[in-house]
Amino acid sequence: MDLIKEDFNKILDKKELSSEIKWMKIYHPFIARKALPGQFIILRPTEESERIPLTIAGTEPEKGTIEIIFQEVGVTTKKLGSLVSGSKIHNLAGPLGKPVHIENYGRVLLITGGVGSAFIYWMAMAFREKGNTIWAIMGARTANLLILVDEMKKICDKVLISTDDGSKGTKGFVTDVLEDALNNGEHADLAICAGPIMMMKNVSIITKKYGIKTIASLNPIMIDGTGMCGGCRVTIGGKVKFACVDGPDFDAHQVDFDELLKRTSFYKKQEQCALEIYLKSTGAGRFTSTTAEKSREV
Ligand SMILES: Cc1cc2nc3c(=O)[nH]c(=O)nc-3n(C[C@H](O)[C@H](O)[C@H](O)COP(=O)(O)OP(=O)(O)OC[C@H]3O[C@@H](n4cnc5c(N)ncnc54)[C@H](O)[C@@H]3O)c2cc1C
Ligand code: FES
Repeated sequence: MDLIKEDFNKILDKKELSSEIKWMKIYHPFIARKALPGQFIILRPTEESERIPLTIAGTEPEKGTIEIIFQEVGVTTKKLGSLVSGSKIHNLAGPLGKPVHIENYGRVLLITGGVGSAFIYWMAMAFREKGNTIWAIMGARTANLLILVDEMKKICDKVLISTDDGSKGTKGFVTDVLEDALNNGEHADLAICAGPIMMMKNVSIITKKYGIKTIASLNPIMIDGTGMCGGCRVTIGGKVKFACVDGPDFDAHQVDFDELLKRTSFYKKQEQCALEIYLKSTGAGRFTSTTAEKSREV
């Protein structure tokens, strides 16, 4: 494949998966060639932007492309979402983090909340290729925020859906569906969860009760992504780990979720203030203090 240097970081395609969630295909042959499921990139949409981590949702190594799926929750994800096909992301680095360990476990359960499906979908395909049978529980605040359901149905034996408001599937949380399914004799040899921290915490409490090995894809605040700044510090089994180099996937039963919750909300006021200023500058209307929180509660 010829490398087209001037096209590096170019957005080749872009789709809206829901009002808040976007999919992009980006030209970056080096990352496309190396990336594996579970890894992520750190990017800056524009020169003045902050660095944000986003999971690599898929690659086409022969075409030199990578895919990302992101929810617009704050200034940087909104700036990224405002870039159009054909424009360039200012810079991006990757692949970062450890790939998830893929082997034939038997029956694998994937549990996602909202944009958490972006973390899981590529992994799901890799587990499937290794001969696992897969079932999934996918949840969101409301039907409009459920993504990749049709794609997951193609590779899973069974997909159960829940929405907080009952607009699709069971009314309630993924954890309600999980507990019901396990009570009714469903089983899994491995569970993987990705989504809001509270959801992952509650999933891990349930799967521990049923003795199911569980991996949580953690999403702490990250800055450099190389293990230098300590921003992504998490506690796993009482030991300090850096999610960007030791993770982002960890044994869910060992994660200190309460600490993670505290650390991710550390800059909430500043993030809300920055978003308010950004929205005013773009004329996008007034921001209410709960907008970002609501966005993450998927
Ligand atoms: C390894 C990794 C992979 C990720 N992959 C994806 C992905 O594929 N798709 C995706 O949509 N998001 C992903 N995230 C989360 C994403 O990085 C954040 O949503 C983003 O940094 C928010 O930046 P912002 O400036 O738009 O919003 P900010 O202004 O920074 O934050 C807005 C709101 O989102 C909350 N928030 C900020 N960062 C996070 C976070 N890391 N986790 C949970 N809540 C957060 C804040 O508390 C605040 O309420 C990932 C995070 C990590 C660590
Ligand atoms: S992001 Fe800096 S140490 Fe992980």
